[in-house]
Amino acid sequence: MKRTSEIGAAVVGSGFIGTVHVEALRRLGVQVHGLLGSSPERAAVRAEELGVPGSYASLGELLEDDRVEVVHVTSPNHLHHPQVREILAAGRHVVCEKPLAMTSEESADLVRLAAESGRVTAVNFNIRFYPLNQHAHELVRGGGLGDVRLITGRYFQDWLLLETDWNWRLEPDRGGALRAVGDIGSHWLDLMTFVTGQRITSVMADLATFIPTRRQPAGSVETFSTDRAAQTVEREIGTEDTATILLRFENGARGAVAISQLSPGRKNSLQYEVDGSSAAASWDSEQPDQIWIGHRERPNEILIRNPALMGPAAQVASSLPAGHVEGFADTFRSLFRAIYADIGAGAPAELPIYPVFADGHDGMLVGDAIATSARDGRWTDVARRMNPLTHLEDLR
Ligand SMILES: NC(=O)c1ccc[n+]([C@@H]2O[C@H](COP(=O)([O-])OP(=O)(O)OC[C@H]3O[C@@H](n4cnc5c(N)ncnc54)[C@H](O)[C@@H]3O)[C@@H](O)[C@H]2O)c1
Repeated sequence: MKRTSEIGAAVVGSGFIGTVHVEALRRLGVQVHGLLGSSPERAAVRAEELGVPGSYASLGELLEDDRVEVVHVTSPNHLHHPQVREILAAGRHVVCEKPLAMTSEESADLVRLAAESGRVTAVNFNIRFYPLNQHAHELVRGGGLGDVRLITGRYFQDWLLLETDWNWRLEPDRGGALRAVGDIGSHWLDLMTFVTGQRITSVMADLATFIPTRRQPAGSVETFSTDRAAQTVEREIGTEDTATILLRFENGARGAVAISQLSPGRKNSLQYEVDGSSAAASWDSEQPDQIWIGHRERPNEILIRNPALMGPAAQVASSLPAGHVEGFADTFRSLFRAIYADIGAGAPAELPIYPVFADGHDGMLVGDAIATSARDGRWTDVARRMNPLTHLEDLR
């Protein structure tokens, strides 16, 4: 069993989220040996800025570095599949950003390769690791809400509100055929599956593109940047700005979610409410240190995150005492701590407590059903090909 300080890592991509990965790894004592960027020059500059000792000119060069046992993939979506393939072929553990791939064919391929590799292969659905989401998961599993009946919520942002807002996510060949759903909806859908323990079986989706033409800056743009370019090029947009989706879950629960990247004033608001037969739970990512618990026969509760008052998994995911607010960056530390426990042991646990490639693939299958439903204007089942013997998806 290795300690985290004895494990070496490298990070592919050094933009918005690559930086968060580097900082969380440092908090755990993992040795981050280098960065890979879109060019050797850019990677060297970012490594210098972040205080990372090295940078690489190519993924091949990174994989020749024997100190690197784990590779974090935080590049744009279209690179996840080819990069993860190469990393697994070189025998390394992988932590890949969401969405796992561009298509469910690609994600199925990665699930298969992950199983063959015996390596730890995680998907960065970090929102599961807010301590109060771990608490909600434990609450539901322990019957604290009764039977789960209704699962509702939203994920709203406003950073693509203007026609001059631009990012690689708007280009389907880099971001994928689903945009708001793939980028942020994927978090909500995964989180609800995690909290309730119920997979989505069927969807009825309506996707809308309110800004059919955008002005792309002539140069490159950082994620969440508000700079305005002087020179722009008109681009037609085919992917959705918003999605409204009805959901059915495997236990018969019903759900509804709205997803938007152009809701003025909403910076990063993921909200949910799970209504059970005896109680309800509701949480908002912009107030992540509290959860509302609703009752019929007694006063409602607000639980402020408090290791002394939460379930065991929520306690483990919590790093500060109550009242010392934890947030987005802390979820990476808690998630990575769970992942690196398995990496330290050399192989994934039989039932990993963190999201794995199969979860990323399942999210891609739900995305396929959403795209089909929106195109055909009808309820669509999630097409899992379950093996009746193993009860796992048959990926052959
Ligand atoms: N889990 C989360 O909460 C979360 C949040 C944001 C983004 N993401 C995911 O992280 C990924 C990156 O998103 P971002 O917002 O950081 O984007 P970004 O544009 O800020 O950063 C992407 C980085 O990838 C680098 N890159 C481009 N081509 C590359 C190549 N060939 N090899 C290596 N690096 C290359 C770019 O230089 C840049 O540093 C996406 O898949 C996105 O969905 C996840």
